[in-house]
Amino acid sequence: MDSVTGKHRAAGPAGAAARAVGLFKQYGEGETAVTALDHVDVEFARNQFTAIMGPSGSGKSTLMHCMAGLDSATSGSAYIGDTDLSGLRDKEMTALRRDRLGFIFQSFNLVPTLTAAENITLPSDIAGAKVDQEWFEEITSRLGLTNRLTHRPAELSGGQQQRVACARALVSRPEIIFGDEPTGNLDSNSSREVLDILRTAVDQDDQTVVIVTHDAKAASYADRVVFLADGRLINEILDPTIDEILATMAGIES
Ligand SMILES: Nc1ncnc2c1ncn2[C@@H]1O[C@H](COP(=O)(O)OP(=O)(O)O)[C@@H](O)[C@H]1O
Ligand SMILES: [Mg+2]
Repeated sequence: MDSVTGKHRAAGPAGAAARAVGLFKQYGEGETAVTALDHVDVEFARNQFTAIMGPSGSGKSTLMHCMAGLDSATSGSAYIGDTDLSGLRDKEMTALRRDRLGFIFQSFNLVPTLTAAENITLPSDIAGAKVDQEWFEEITSRLGLTNRLTHRPAELSGGQQQRVACARALVSRPEIIFGDEPTGNLDSNSSREVLDILRTAVDQDDQTVVIVTHDAKAASYADRVVFLADGRLINEILDPTIDEILATMAGIES
């Protein structure tokens, strides 16, 4: 046990699965320029579940997208492990995203013409990597998808589609899994299932998970909640309770 966080491993450059250093992101130029990230420094420790919260427009998606190599910062650095994303060429970035990261989006982002099983193995198939069959079976069984693997997304409920997206993110055992409001389109039962899966991935499989959420209940599954406002990191809570999260959010929004 770590005395600072109360759980898991301590954060530190050597132990960080991902980190931002002076991350600055501006959209547009001149008078209409918007500062989405105002020099953010943050570390996401390995084997931790972190939730990012903050008011709408506070920079949550921008932070996640810059840290996951889906968008590039104006200045500053984003690291996955020891790899500085700003130093990568397009091809290297594509390979890094494919081999080292998992993504879960609010809108599931499944390929409609492929079955659930094909969607889950698609990134590995594109990479020409072999899927660990035993792990595939373990993950899909844990997610309650065993009898749904031949179905296409349109034949699945929203909750089932998001569980397929979770399986797709987990099957290659990436270094870190990012989710931008992964439960944003789900009812409370399906949300709970997805959050339980992510919690288990951290507790049982030594995964690292970072999600953006505006839901205090979802954030309470995390080991740590960091709060953004106006593109700045302004607060954090370790081992958060729903009440602590709600109180902090109320303080930010008032
Ligand atoms: N593509 C874009 N072009 C211009 N402004 C953007 C773009 N994306 C985001 N922004 C602005 O950047 C700020 C942060 O946005 P975002 O990261 O999406 O916030 P959040 O996810 O917390 O709601 C907001 O002011 C938003 O309007
Ligand atoms: Mg957002």
